[in-house]
Amino acid sequence: MLDIAALIATQPGDTHVYVCGPSVLNDAVVNAARAAGWDAGRIHFEQFRNEVDATGGAFEAVLQKSGLTLQVGADESLLRAIEKAGVKVDCMCREGICGSCETAILDGEADHRDQYLSDAEKAAQKTMMLCVSRCKGQRLVLDL
Ligand code: FES
Repeated sequence: MLDIAALIATQPGDTHVYVCGPSVLNDAVVNAARAAGWDAGRIHFEQFRNEVDATGGAFEAVLQKSGLTLQVGADESLLRAIEKAGVKVDCMCREGICGSCETAILDGEADHRDQYLSDAEKAAQKTMMLCVSRCKGQRLVLDL
């Protein structure tokens, strides 16, 4: 078996690690890097599948550029509500993994459910993934 901790421990201080695969592999690499004190910005991972539920409490989404205000139902994703309104959005994975639907948040707080943004980026509340993430409150204003 690959000694991931030993590999991580012998890397120069500016090394970044990239891992893509099933959660058991990703977890082993990410945990080894964290245990070795690596900064989160140097640890990159992508899972084959993100089994996240994009439904939840209903909220209002204002699409600033489009001049639209949408009611996002509890049983639909934000992305689905936007598409129903006829607004075209780039989206590839629809599972919060690829980052193609990343959109700027102009007001409000996102309930981040993606695996694309880092913890720091999620805390900054500057952007969100429309496909899986929702609103922490009652209203989001997006740069769409
Ligand atoms: S479509 Fe891939 S992160 Fe949203």
